[in-house]
Amino acid sequence: MGTRRWVAAAAAVMVALLLLSAASHGGRRGPSFNSNNRTFVFNYTLAKTIVEYASAVYMTDLTALYTWTCSRCNDLTKGFEIRCIIVDIQNCLQAFIGVDHNLNAVIVAIRGTQENSVQNWIKDLVWKQVDLNYPNMPDAKVHTGFYSAYNNTLLRPAITNAVRKARRLYGDISVIVTGHSMGGAMASFCALDLAISLGSDSVHLMTFGQPRIGNAAFASYFEQYVPSAIRVTHEHDIVPHLPPYFFFLPHLTYHHFPREVFPCINLESV
Ligand SMILES: *[C@@H]1O[C@H](CO)[C@@H](O)[C@H](O)[C@H]1NC(C)=O
Ligand SMILES: *[C@@H]1O[C@H](CO)[C@@H](O)[C@H](O)[C@H]1NC(C)=O
Ligand SMILES: *[C@@H]1O[C@H](CO)[C@@H](O)[C@H](O)[C@H]1NC(C)=O
Repeated sequence: MGTRRWVAAAAAVMVALLLLSAASHGGRRGPSFNSNNRTFVFNYTLAKTIVEYASAVYMTDLTALYTWTCSRCNDLTKGFEIRCIIVDIQNCLQAFIGVDHNLNAVIVAIRGTQENSVQNWIKDLVWKQVDLNYPNMPDAKVHTGFYSAYNNTLLRPAITNAVRKARRLYGDISVIVTGHSMGGAMASFCALDLAISLGSDSVHLMTFGQPRIGNAAFASYFEQYVPSAIRVTHEHDIVPHLPPYFFFLPHLTYHHFPREVFPCINLESV
């Protein structure tokens, strides 16, 4: 299946990156993710775990996601505490927020649209209105379509709220944001948003095959705020060059979803 292929491809690229990273660090190998020190360095297990989250957010069986029993919820992400699933039917977006107790981190996974019928809508949005001035960053311009898909939908308030609640419950643990393709573009805006409000040390980003989202000025601001961002791409993936990109995605329909937003699981009341 297509999604399995990109997971495999991403894993292959990560092996290459790991080798590079090991070489550039003089072969030093260390834990990738240190919550006290909060550095975010490659380690194959960590990267593979994050791929599994980025992949799981494509699952359409929401009950299986809620109970974390989906077919992609079984491996390295076992024991994940899902706290909130966001489904924006109107814009065909999906995301979840939860806590990975092994990593001691809040995970935010975002999925782009999958509907073919929406493809043109997105394409228009992306190609016709590319240059939005990013707030409070002089000269920084971003793709309106991707930015709006994050900023002007349910995603931004719902994610921000769920992350804050999780951190209130578990202490100020780190946040890892991930996504694939268009979901990766939105994950980037999300990470920037969270880094500005929670601090750069607390927010990490890993995306897979994400398209470019802004100009050089934006990229330089972005690097400042989200220094630990990692973008995994591979040469056969056209996403980084040609947004948007949907053909590998499994077809699905949204008719069965009863509500626009699924209620967040509220653990505070337990
Ligand atoms: C990789 O990172 C994970 C998660 O932080 C950690 O549990 C594991 O020990 C690390 N592995 C190595 C070889 O450093
Ligand atoms: C985090 O740990 C690394 C390696 O152990 C060290 O080089 C770095 O200075 C530490 N950063 C902080 C902010 O303590
Ligand atoms: C982003 O969202 C905020 C809050 O909803 C809104 O005030 C602002 O206009 C949005 N920015 C853009 C460029 O659409």
